[in-house]
Amino acid sequence: MKKIKAQHCRVIQNKQVGKNGDYYSLKFDEFRVSRSIWPGNFLHVKVTDTVDPLFRRAFSVADYDPERGVLEIIYKVVGRGTSILSQKKKGDRIDIIGPLGNRFSSPGRKKTAVLVAGGIGFPPMYFLAKNLVNRGHDKRKILFIYGGRSKTDLIEMQRIRRLGVDLIPCTDDGSYGFKGFVTGALADRIDQLDTAQTFVWGCGPEPMLAALQDMALDIGLIGEISLEAPMPCGVGVCLGCIKATLDNPRKYVRVCYDGPVFKLGEIKI
Ligand SMILES: Cc1cc2nc3c(=O)[nH]c(=O)nc-3n(C[C@H](O)[C@H](O)[C@H](O)COP(=O)(O)OP(=O)(O)OC[C@H]3O[C@@H](n4cnc5c(N)ncnc54)[C@H](O)[C@@H]3O)c2cc1C
Ligand code: FES
Repeated sequence: MKKIKAQHCRVIQNKQVGKNGDYYSLKFDEFRVSRSIWPGNFLHVKVTDTVDPLFRRAFSVADYDPERGVLEIIYKVVGRGTSILSQKKKGDRIDIIGPLGNRFSSPGRKKTAVLVAGGIGFPPMYFLAKNLVNRGHDKRKILFIYGGRSKTDLIEMQRIRRLGVDLIPCTDDGSYGFKGFVTGALADRIDQLDTAQTFVWGCGPEPMLAALQDMALDIGLIGEISLEAPMPCGVGVCLGCIKATLDNPRKYVRVCYDGPVFKLGEIKI
């Protein structure tokens, strides 16, 4: 296994995004890129200089500006690690390992790209949408379905709109956009899609990914999902992130090393 070095990157921004108060965008520079950075890759972040908390926290790359060497993660404060991260100030140094994990695949420009993001599954889906647009995928063939519990859980909407893709916002409580789950919004639109010419990606909470996978298997949609299992080591050593495969429940994969991106239908969720 290739040795991956930690880097002490400089925080250049750590600001709240959205109206909920729990979401932050953290940008940092002075990151020396050891390999190309692609949508689906993640970073493993040490939130303090001490051993407490011991384990790094994983965050998807939300954006990358190769010219300025600036990387961005977007995160929700859910516990101790993310709460400590939210206190970081411009100029602070953070210890980061990455980019780690595999990447979303490219299905080709002819396909309609359907990106399904739930809650904090938004960052890798945004980076993927931006990457598709930058690589010349027809914007009319990119559908971004973005769901949250309530209106304030939908963040960075202007950023998605600026990409010029077809956006369906959804909220569980109906406070904004389609009322219901992202899979409901996809079911609503499915008649307008040529399923054989469609490729779906999803990232979000596991119940959402399970519903998306069931739906895809039912109607014969192909695609990929990105899993967000807790990851103690992040590099395939500790087996703390394993998941069983769907066709053979005795065969396991390491989400950090074999993923986090897997084919729809590959993993038992
Ligand atoms: C590949 C990958 C990419 C990720 N990308 C993002 C991202 O872009 N933005 C973001 O906000 N979060 C992302 N996560 C989730 C993020 O790693 C966790 O939210 C974070 O580790 C929580 O740390 P904490 O100390 O604040 O919470 P903890 O105190 O450790 O946990 C608080 C709560 O969050 C749950 N939790 C902890 N870790 C995870 C996890 N990995 N996945 C799901 N639930 C978890 C716990 O069960 C608990 O309920 C990603 C995770 C992975 C594995
Ligand atoms: S987090 Fe250790 S093997 Fe995946």
